[in-house]
Amino acid sequence: MGQQNVNESGHFLFGGWDVTELAERFGTPLYVLSEEAVRARCRAVRESFMDRWENSLAVYAGKAFLPMAMCRIIASEGLGLDVVSGGELHTAKSAGFPMEKVFFHGNSKTAEELRFALDAGVGRIVVDGTSELDALEEIARNGGKRADILFRVTPGVDAHTHKYILTGHTGSKFGFPLLGNSLRTAVRRAMNSDCLSLRGFHFHIGSQIFENTSHVMAVGIGVKTIAEFSRDLGFTTMELNMGGGYGVEFDPEGETPPISSFTDAMMEALAAGCAAEGIPVPRVIIEPGRWVVSEAGVTLYTVQTVKTIDGMVTYAGVDGGMTDNPRPALYGAKYWAVAAGKMDREPTETVTLAGKCCESGDVLIEGLKVPPLERGDLLAVLNTGAYTFSMASNYNRIPRPAAVLVSPGRADVIAERQTYDDVLRWDRIPEHLR
Ligand code: LLP
Repeated sequence: MGQQNVNESGHFLFGGWDVTELAERFGTPLYVLSEEAVRARCRAVRESFMDRWENSLAVYAGKAFLPMAMCRIIASEGLGLDVVSGGELHTAKSAGFPMEKVFFHGNSKTAEELRFALDAGVGRIVVDGTSELDALEEIARNGGKRADILFRVTPGVDAHTHKYILTGHTGSKFGFPLLGNSLRTAVRRAMNSDCLSLRGFHFHIGSQIFENTSHVMAVGIGVKTIAEFSRDLGFTTMELNMGGGYGVEFDPEGETPPISSFTDAMMEALAAGCAAEGIPVPRVIIEPGRWVVSEAGVTLYTVQTVKTIDGMVTYAGVDGGMTDNPRPALYGAKYWAVAAGKMDREPTETVTLAGKCCESGDVLIEGLKVPPLERGDLLAVLNTGAYTFSMASNYNRIPRPAAVLVSPGRADVIAERQTYDDVLRWDRIPEHLR
């Protein structure tokens, strides 16, 4: 945490703002997203990937964070968008995102979602299995539509990450397995379909991955598969979507690897593999989510209680928790925070940052070093741009926080804070209970 992030009052600066001013103006808990930081990451993705390989495309994985304002930023940066549900697709469409740059994913798409994607004219539907292929073909034919599709394959690669966010291993619920004949049969079927146009394949091996070895291995397996279909079926793969998963560093002492540390190695493996197999290099696509947005966000909380259990632990309880960030409880994810109004004081205390939900597991951070805290102090949890807002819940009937987009001189609400009435909005009391 460099001095450049602290102003003369000893307050934490983020996205060109003294965050204590944001807390005063918008209240806490508050998600704060730096527009400059998101745009810088998009630019890095463009410069280190899209500008270097002809016709390549990076699509932002919307599941990480997708209010409509985010769709606008991503569109203006020239990236595509990965959506994974009718709700995400509706968000993108409502925000005016160019539909031809949308990739529609999901391992359990409903007929309604498939129809929606076809009607909206998404660029690609990523088909996850044989029953989806059956359904899509029927829906497309009945609706007089054509669909450009990719098949998601499970490369059978074990990446080193939490098992809940591992997706490319043999036995995964995602994609066509490479074992058995289902993929080959599906390729043959798609080649003969009058309403589906198979452009190629997709894989995604998991999330929050730091080393490129598993990605490179998956590329190798992808090349072998492509070569086999070329040889045996005469099928030419036009596109290879290599997924996302590029990790970010949550330890303030560490550093997030550049995305090129993955993409360069993958592209090298792809070029070498295709040359060795004598097949053309397909158009490539990547799908970074966390890498684009995680570090562009912080969450502000106000301390409500400080409780020391002598000789054991000091808890600082805040006004949010697993409802606005379930990642520590769900994955054991590690975060770091700063006492945003006391940046000029020495961090002499070690505290456990506790959320307000009625669960002992609702702990945001353990072993956090901070100056002595008291009720009313402001804390900024860092690196919360990805998979927090998008995974928030109303557990304990806690309204969801607002999200603001900041840049020097501007701060705009991009998602309103829920009210207690918003929480009641879907409740109905049946006649006999009134
Ligand atoms: N493409 C596909 C097909 C995916 O399933 C995912 C993430 C991504 C791209 C983007 O992965 P990223 O670049 O963000 O790692 N909720 C979990 C993460 C789940 C990721 C699911 N799929 C978490 O909070 O860690």
